[in-house]
Amino acid sequence: MEEQAIQKEEQAAKKVMLSGIQPSGALHLGNYLGPLQHWPQMIEDFDCYFFLADLHTITVRQDPAALRKQTMTLLASYIACGLDPEKCTLFIQSHVHQHAELGWVLNCYAMFGELSRMTQFKDKSAKNADNINGGLFTYPCLMAADILLYQPDFVPVGEDQRQHVELCRNIVQRFNGIYGDVFKMPEPYIQKVGARIMSLNAPESKMSKSQPEGCVFLLDRPEDIARKFKRAVTDSDTENCVRYDQAKKPGVANLIQIYAAATGRTFEDVEREFAGCGYGKFKPAVGEAVIETLRPIREETERLLKDKAYLEGVYRAGAEKASYVAEKTLRKVYKKVGFLQR
Ligand code: TYM
Repeated sequence: MEEQAIQKEEQAAKKVMLSGIQPSGALHLGNYLGPLQHWPQMIEDFDCYFFLADLHTITVRQDPAALRKQTMTLLASYIACGLDPEKCTLFIQSHVHQHAELGWVLNCYAMFGELSRMTQFKDKSAKNADNINGGLFTYPCLMAADILLYQPDFVPVGEDQRQHVELCRNIVQRFNGIYGDVFKMPEPYIQKVGARIMSLNAPESKMSKSQPEGCVFLLDRPEDIARKFKRAVTDSDTENCVRYDQAKKPGVANLIQIYAAATGRTFEDVEREFAGCGYGKFKPAVGEAVIETLRPIREETERLLKDKAYLEGVYRAGAEKASYVAEKTLRKVYKKVGFLQR
């Protein structure tokens, strides 16, 4: 059999995986330790689609020039993290028009009540009280379209996206219930360690770019990362002992989680390694582990950003591959709901 035919057959046998990140700001440690760091090993075993969810970003006002720059930076960081564009499909969401089109259809198969229950909608509406737009409300329908166009088996995300994937599953059930087996039922794929990295200065809320003081960005300079960890909130107990207790010691539990996720250790390993050490020794050690994890990614991102032509080639080829698959699903959906073929 010819090599191309063999490759095609192997591809067909592989399970499909898909995920995306919004380029609405710089990538942070939560994005990396939660889902992203696991993606490079997935491309060996799965047929993977990873995209930059730029359509989603405008649910909150963006500066256009900054958005363009962040999109290129995120693409470079994807590759720097180990997503080899030869082995997976890397693309920009707005380059594949089928996302917006299927998003519209799925709007009509999601209920007002279920969309109103989305935690992220409630959070973002509270934070952007002067701009609670329709896109913010129907965002999970676009996310369902992102997923379902590629019929993935798994969707690797952090814990905060579980609810959106569950809503997508509801849509699949409703849609397939009416029209037969159109969509494959996707499963959320959430890591045990790193799925919810908390803010360094407010460990009761998740690490997020909207709270930059408690957030470590992938491209932060080592001295800034060290400073952020030195200032990390531990706990007001007098114990001064590195012990995992989510309820009583959320700050220390978060640092243990970060260290474990960055070094591939278990929580017990971390407790053992730092037994007898106070927070004064533990915090800089976590900072050091993160600096060493991020150093090669930062350097490679900076190198890739200098090669604009290469990055443009990657996203063009990715859009072409993605559109081919997306169009097949969209055609099927349009036919099922009764649209006349052109
Ligand atoms: P976004 O851009 O907010 O986050 C990207 C990914 O990072 C995870 N994440 C975290 N994980 C651990 N700890 C944290 N503090 C943390 N913060 C963020 C998120 O769970 C996510 O996996 N709606 C999505 C993007 C998206 C998408 C999709 C994802 C659009 N379409 C289809 C999967 C499939 C979002 O806003 O993620």
